[in-house]
Amino acid sequence: MPLSTSRMLSVDDLPGPKGWPLLGNLPQLTPARLHRQFDSWCDEYGLMYRVRMAGQRIVVVSDPELNREILRNRPGGFRRQSSIESVMDEMGSNGLFSLEGEAWRRRRKLAMPAFNATHLRGFQPSLEAITERLRQRWEDRSPDDVRAELTRYTVDVTAKLTFDYDINTLEQSGDVIQRHLELIFPILNRRLGMPFPYWRYVKLPDDRALDRALAALRQDLTAVIARARTNLPEQPTNFIEALLLAQDGGEFTDAELFAEALTILIAGQDTTSNAMAWLLYHLAGNPAAQQRIREEVAQIPSVLDRQPYLEAVAAESMRLQPTTPLLAMEAIEDTTIDGVSVPAGTWVIVNVRHAGLQAQNFSAPLTFDPDRWLREGPGNHRPDTALPFGSGPRFCPGRGLAMLEIKSVTSMVCRNFDLSLPPDAEPPSDRFHFAVIPTGMRVNVTPRTVP
Ligand code: HEM
Repeated sequence: MPLSTSRMLSVDDLPGPKGWPLLGNLPQLTPARLHRQFDSWCDEYGLMYRVRMAGQRIVVVSDPELNREILRNRPGGFRRQSSIESVMDEMGSNGLFSLEGEAWRRRRKLAMPAFNATHLRGFQPSLEAITERLRQRWEDRSPDDVRAELTRYTVDVTAKLTFDYDINTLEQSGDVIQRHLELIFPILNRRLGMPFPYWRYVKLPDDRALDRALAALRQDLTAVIARARTNLPEQPTNFIEALLLAQDGGEFTDAELFAEALTILIAGQDTTSNAMAWLLYHLAGNPAAQQRIREEVAQIPSVLDRQPYLEAVAAESMRLQPTTPLLAMEAIEDTTIDGVSVPAGTWVIVNVRHAGLQAQNFSAPLTFDPDRWLREGPGNHRPDTALPFGSGPRFCPGRGLAMLEIKSVTSMVCRNFDLSLPPDAEPPSDRFHFAVIPTGMRVNVTPRTVP
């Protein structure tokens, strides 16, 4: 619904769902369905509406221009929701994702070289070796749960990239670091979604296990950091070395390096594995797209080169299922959004998914059609409205690595396997859980006899 800017509106003037006394809309929100609920309220109340959660007023924005404006207005005007920083901080992982203000600005400047193209090119042989392990594993035994397999893959890739540690969850299970990480992710997700930080008052067995896992991980990473400090190569082989090389003098403390390593492990894993899982699901329903990828990778084998069709498949899959559809922001100071006065401290949810599913931005929006990213001509196609990696100064720095992983796995899979959907398969449901996860996803992976 277009908002009139002729007089200043307040958040309470915005349309929005009717809620309960005291609790507001809290009882209507199921954490796993948050993205769906916010989309359907958007269809009902417009591109900017308000929600109430207990005492907190929340503005939900789904307009692509406003979204970009809000995301651009950082770190000065908006920050990530303050609960994110405090939860990460008490876990010792207050790094690039959760830092704010000047601390974030300084860290971003120091960290960005670690993600640059040269560093990624240097990492390519490791990526190839880990992708080959996945091929071998699927060759030996058809995967029952493709999503779980892809999670193992991204754990291996991010641990290798971050601190040159070969977890190798693809070939063995029971690694100590893997066990720590498996414990940390679900508890972190739970804490980020909790309206009340109970663990600061009462520790449940899971919370105590988390403390132990973090202490053990800190010990392992501190040893890696000490090695990197005493033996720093000219060209970094991992993220910690890249950070140390980027600093001018001894700027990073061990605690800061640990926070960054953990941040990368957290930010880089579920996002990428679930993006790949959705992509393989779409391909399984589109044998012609699998064949087009085979033909393209036969012509352009290196994932470091542009592979237009494969990249279009990735863009199309992330348009339909962005794995981070809601970016939770908070106004730092009193501000206005499209003529609505938004007081400091108001939560602003930037919905980056809705625009990608609208016919005025993408014709036949629910159809998986990678070619729309390649052709010019009739039909709506507004790529700038889909923001799967965010936007503005805090745009995802891991996009390059994520695309390399996506391209490596997809080209390996199409070259060596046929993907198909079991005839009785129901479409997976999408659960919001830090990233949007496909649950109940069934994909057949059959080795190809003709390479
Ligand atoms: C398909 C995979 C991925 C998706 C969809 C994704 C998405 C996002 C999004 C939406 C943001 C927030 C951007 C914003 O606030 O404007 C973000 C931030 C971030 N991502 Fe990713 N990401 C992916 C992979 C990765 C990988 C592989 C890494 C690291 C190896 C990574 C590291 C980060 C970090 C450190 C931030 C915080 C940046 C900052 O606040 O300055 N991400 N990502």
